[in-house]
Amino acid sequence: MNNKATLNINNKVHDLDLITGSENEVALDISKLRLDANLITIDAGFKNTGSCQSAITFLDGEKGILRYRGYSIEELANKADFLEVAYLLIFGELPTKQQLEKLSDDIKERSIIDEDLRIILNSYPKSAHPMGILSSLTSGLVAFDPSAVDIDDDEDMYDAILNLLAKIPVLVAWVYRRRKGLPLEYGDTSLGYVENIAKMMFQRPNKEYIQNQTVVSALNKLLILHADHEQNCSTSTVRIVGSSYAGLFASVSAGISALWGRLHGGANQAVIEMLEAINEDGGDTKKYMSKAKDKSDPFRLMGFGHRVYKNFDPRAKIIKVAADEVLKNLGIDDPILDIAKGLEKEALEDQYFVDRKLYPNVDFYSGIIYKALDIPAEMFTVMFALGRLPGWVAHWREMRLRKEPIGRPRQVYIGENLRSFSDINSR
Ligand code: ACO
Repeated sequence: MNNKATLNINNKVHDLDLITGSENEVALDISKLRLDANLITIDAGFKNTGSCQSAITFLDGEKGILRYRGYSIEELANKADFLEVAYLLIFGELPTKQQLEKLSDDIKERSIIDEDLRIILNSYPKSAHPMGILSSLTSGLVAFDPSAVDIDDDEDMYDAILNLLAKIPVLVAWVYRRRKGLPLEYGDTSLGYVENIAKMMFQRPNKEYIQNQTVVSALNKLLILHADHEQNCSTSTVRIVGSSYAGLFASVSAGISALWGRLHGGANQAVIEMLEAINEDGGDTKKYMSKAKDKSDPFRLMGFGHRVYKNFDPRAKIIKVAADEVLKNLGIDDPILDIAKGLEKEALEDQYFVDRKLYPNVDFYSGIIYKALDIPAEMFTVMFALGRLPGWVAHWREMRLRKEPIGRPRQVYIGENLRSFSDINSR
């Protein structure tokens, strides 16, 4: 295939390079266009703009394909352990047994949090949204470990990454426990990463904690499914913040804030609130389908549609099956699962949704599982953040190692032309 394209503007021809990815997707390199033709491109919401070249995750939204470092999401979700997937995403290959053991030991070693951070956590109102607390505590971690990462030093980079993988689950558990009025505790270093998360979150102070393998396996799956999704809003945020050489913790803190919004990670909370509202309103799914299609009504069917998937989100397929399993194993009969299935069926047959290629996304069923695990709705997006952590870290590391330039888009100015300043008394 020709690796050049030509652009004819006012009869002047400009050569543009074509870049071909390893899955044969082709991109037009416009980076020199302004220099050559005094032109920029505009693409609000980056609907058709690549921001980088990345070797971490491959996604084909038309075919519903998602792969981490070449491994299919279906295989990873069914066979892998979350920590293995974290290693794969961050360092590029599946770990050997020894590498995984070392990773696990090194994480345990770093899981202690300065007691002063507990004081900061306890100063937040109990009603504060957990995503805001998590973002601020993640940034706060820098104050307790201010040394910047020397990216040319492998050990330094490894240390910063592991500190984050070790401390964020503790913070997540603490945020959850404080909300529930439970004492803040550490987990158990004899346990695996996900089992320890379950124990840190769910253990009672007056009762031995017995691991429920259904819960552990559902958490493991959810974390893997959320672990990366190439240049989504929060990951792009992490990369762009990191591109200014802001540290890893500060960049991830910004990613957590980006994830909070209901059009992104906040959708899982919005989905469960929507399903509960429909249930309380008598379960009339048709009424809400009409609202979603009514352009004068701001209501959208939360958990439906995706910027990139124009086919089934492969993660949603896996989660739907997992939700069924978890509810069955825990003996929960939740009417909102039926409402979710009803909405999905109607939407898949509805011309509005068919025309716009709107399918259930990863968050349509994840909240049902979190709810079954007794996690409050405000914590759903925090659980998503816990899963997305290795993805953010992997992208931050890749961006720094590739020595990408600072992220700084251009704009087309549409404001006032030059005018004179008028004195305040004459305005
Ligand atoms: N309900 C009803 N209509 C929808 C929905 C929805 N959930 N999603 C998109 N549409 C419609 C839009 O109104 C628009 O219609 P139009 O062409 O007649 O104007 C068309 O579909 C295209 O929608 P856009 O908003 O342009 O698509 P975009 O790619 O910008 O947005 C998004 C994608 C934000 C995910 C959108 O589908 C949405 O708001 N979904 C609900 C929120 C959600 O579930 N977010 C989670 C995404 S997954 C994740 O981040 C982990």
